[in-house]
Amino acid sequence: MSAVLKIESLSKSFVLHQQAGVRIPVFDGLNAEVKAGEAVAVTGPSGRGKSSLLKLVYGTYRANAGSIQVFSGVGWTDVVTAAPRDVIELRRDVIGYVTQFLRVIPRVPAEMVVAEPMMDRGISQEQALTRARTLLDRLNIPKRLWHLSPMTFSGGEQQRVNIARGFAAHFPILLLDEPTASLDTENRNRVLELIAEARGQGSAILAVFHDEAERRRACSRSIGLD
Ligand SMILES: Nc1ncnc2c1ncn2[C@@H]1O[C@H](COP(=O)(O)OP(=O)(O)OP(=O)(O)O)[C@@H](O)[C@H]1O
Ligand SMILES: [Mg+2]
Repeated sequence: MSAVLKIESLSKSFVLHQQAGVRIPVFDGLNAEVKAGEAVAVTGPSGRGKSSLLKLVYGTYRANAGSIQVFSGVGWTDVVTAAPRDVIELRRDVIGYVTQFLRVIPRVPAEMVVAEPMMDRGISQEQALTRARTLLDRLNIPKRLWHLSPMTFSGGEQQRVNIARGFAAHFPILLLDEPTASLDTENRNRVLELIAEARGQGSAILAVFHDEAERRRACSRSIGLD
């Protein structure tokens, strides 16, 4: 399989304008690539920049230097220099991202939260909801909660809705930030199954795992930031 994500000479530092312009260097000259069907772990101690790397690939943070090339199926786009509307398209079709916490929107039911990324691609609401419900069921979200906003859900339930949303549509590149952090063993296994399935469908995965055993189960190699 060939690379679909290529990170070259990537540098990132934060400047805290509110705090005397203190500069926090995160990384300098980072190189990495991920192939289709491959899951690569990002490792390093807390505060080393693992989440920041995922946010750079998603276009949430802007790099100071270097490039992040992603393959969309027809051509390559550099996230670092891409126009905002290209980033929006990449997020709809190419790059999926499971954040550590669900951003809950009041009044939107859990099943719609999960169905949304599919409907954004033009899949009918009926079809999208069918797949959404299958995923919620696989992740052991009780049926009585599907129609409710995840606002009042437990941390682990919100996390599972977030994961269902992240895996609802097929993404050629998938970013996972501690996707199993607040889950029990049974649900961790479900998430690891979803990761294996996405790999089987050709997704290139860049993931942060707190737990080393899980990291080894899900990923074939690591990029060490330490
Ligand atoms: N938006 C931001 N503004 C300023 N500094 C930031 C910002 N985001 C991250 N940082 C800083 O960048 C460094 C890396 O943070 P990051 O969240 O990427 O670490 P991490 O490796 O994911 O840590 P953890 O394992 O605790 O989740 C930290 O020193 C953090 O304070
Ligand atoms: Mg983090």
